[in-house]
Amino acid sequence: MNQIQNIGIMTSGGDSSGMNAAIRAIVRTAIQHGIKPMGIMNGYQGMIDGHIVELKTTDVSNIIQRGGTILKTARSKEFMTAAGMEKAYQQLQKNNIQSLVLIGGDGTFKGAVEFFKQYQIPAIGLPGTIDNDLNGTDYTIGFDTAVNTAVWAIDKIRDTAASHDRLFLVEVMGRDAGYIALHSGIACGAEHIFIPEKNESIQTLIDTICDDQGRKKLTNIIVVAEGDEFGGALELSKIIQSKIPHIETRVTVLGHIQRGGAPSCFDRILASRLGFAAVQAIIQGRTQEMVGLVNNEIVYTPFAACVKLQKPISNDMLEMIHVLAR
Ligand code: F6P
Repeated sequence: MNQIQNIGIMTSGGDSSGMNAAIRAIVRTAIQHGIKPMGIMNGYQGMIDGHIVELKTTDVSNIIQRGGTILKTARSKEFMTAAGMEKAYQQLQKNNIQSLVLIGGDGTFKGAVEFFKQYQIPAIGLPGTIDNDLNGTDYTIGFDTAVNTAVWAIDKIRDTAASHDRLFLVEVMGRDAGYIALHSGIACGAEHIFIPEKNESIQTLIDTICDDQGRKKLTNIIVVAEGDEFGGALELSKIIQSKIPHIETRVTVLGHIQRGGAPSCFDRILASRLGFAAVQAIIQGRTQEMVGLVNNEIVYTPFAACVKLQKPISNDMLEMIHVLAR
């Protein structure tokens, strides 16, 4: 017999397309099991402030196709203090919330680990970040949409780059992770990809660009993750310009366009599956785990393991870039 009466649902950290689809799945699965879903607005800050509302099944109608998050989101510094956590705990008590379902990234799960140490409120997480930087899942909710948006944009940039024989640096998101850069770069046939996980030699880059010029390959697209070792596309372009000033160079920073928009079909299904599984996990008494999809199977991984190590980038993809772009 299920003892849980109310669960708190929260989105936290940077938003990602598909979070709404996840909220919808959690709300409707919970109601089906006789559990009352309570939406915690504005992430951990809303938990502290008691900004908590009951979600009915109709509250999540017409949102599966919408980007952003109806619960809004925030990054709360106050929650990381003892006083902030105490206030949050009091609010959960007041609203009779016995368990949490948290949709977010590494900051969200680190917060959950600390909160559990103090107050033992069970929590299950869903990976919601465009960065795809969490262990315990092949893909995070929002990554596929973000990559497709980046591909859409880079394809357009290639048209104009080719018309003018220019070198373009396109910066995509990813402070600590190069997944968006790697996937969008490969999908767009980028000549070079710069990611935080791997250092590149500037001299090799310059030599390759000059070699390309020599054999009349005059268009170059360099996809740069914002957190690459040189500090993003603008900084990298300055280095390139200082070494080969005769090559016309332009920079485009894609920015937050990658975070919004209608979620892709992949993200809607991923979010729905994970939301459904998260409620089942709560009912089974699981806690402090993230529900993810590995090899198309639902798996549960402890929060600490999801965020501990950098998610490895596949070596064959890294090797492939240099071969396919020549
Ligand atoms: O974590 C997702 C992410 O989009 C990162 O790729 C990016 O570095 C960061 O959030 C940007 O955060 P903000 O919207 O707070 O500037």
